[in-house]
Amino acid sequence: MRGILLAGGTGTRLWPVTRAISKQLMPVFDKPMVYYPLCTLVMAGVREILIITTPEDQDQFRRLLGDGAQFGLRLDYAVQPRPEGIAQAFLIGADFIGAESVALILGDNIFHGVGLGQQLSRPGRLAGARILAQEVTDPAAYGVVELDGTGNVLSIEEKPIRPRSRYAVPGLYFYDNRVVDIARTVRPSARRELEITAINDHYRRSGELFVTVLDRGTVWLDAGTFTSLMQAAEFVRVIEERDGVKIGCIEEVAWRCGLISDGQLRRLAEPLTRSGYGEYLLGLLADRRVER
Ligand code: DAU
Repeated sequence: MRGILLAGGTGTRLWPVTRAISKQLMPVFDKPMVYYPLCTLVMAGVREILIITTPEDQDQFRRLLGDGAQFGLRLDYAVQPRPEGIAQAFLIGADFIGAESVALILGDNIFHGVGLGQQLSRPGRLAGARILAQEVTDPAAYGVVELDGTGNVLSIEEKPIRPRSRYAVPGLYFYDNRVVDIARTVRPSARRELEITAINDHYRRSGELFVTVLDRGTVWLDAGTFTSLMQAAEFVRVIEERDGVKIGCIEEVAWRCGLISDGQLRRLAEPLTRSGYGEYLLGLLADRRVER
């Protein structure tokens, strides 16, 4: 399965902070925001990832992440000239996806939970679309999915004024290869975007939209406003300081997934020791903590 990490957009909800820097490069406590969704994709088993940015921001993402080889990954880059909708990612990424299935993650979505990797990574070929659902107090701010008692999808709507359920759809989606052709049929919505919800509704109408309700132990945050960015940073800080483990640490995830060796982890750690980040990585080698 290929992965797309969508990190474009104008970030206007964070202006003036994001006027000169991509939102997804902003810090969430001790690492850039993009590390978190990158880790989530890797934990879901994805190794080849296309990072879509604005034309202006691409160089900085390349400077931060390179070609991914240092993490045992293959990272490619593409630009989205204007933020014309999340579903446009499949048009921009059509060649990259080729004949594969694809996972899409939004660059400002942060997931954390014990066993999340296992919950996301499923063996076998995906037929149809798989999305997530999480109960929230303000569903009207998101895509909202309505389920019947047996988990069948009754409806899916983008930011409905009157939500039919409290299940928001987080920004992590899994599709079979037909998503590229489906994306080509989507027309812009009233807010002039190619909506990801339109793609999901297409699969729903043919009975091929499957929903995994995240369990209560899983935290999902999006970090798109001043308050949610601060909340996300605070959440990461509290967990990291209490438990002594890092969230969204791509070097650690790559090492635990067996994508890089001990020696490679040590080489990644060495330039980072002054901030304490590298000390943490070296500590993993020293005490070989059990997976948490
Ligand atoms: O966070 C989950 C929600 O994300 C879903 O529940 C909604 O169904 C989905 O539409 C989306 O809603 P938002 O209104 O929060 O999306 P937003 O426009 O803020 O974009 C989310 C991220 O995707 C953001 O980091 C910027 C990036 N993006 C967005 C668009 C529209 C792009 O890179 N290009 C785009 O064209």
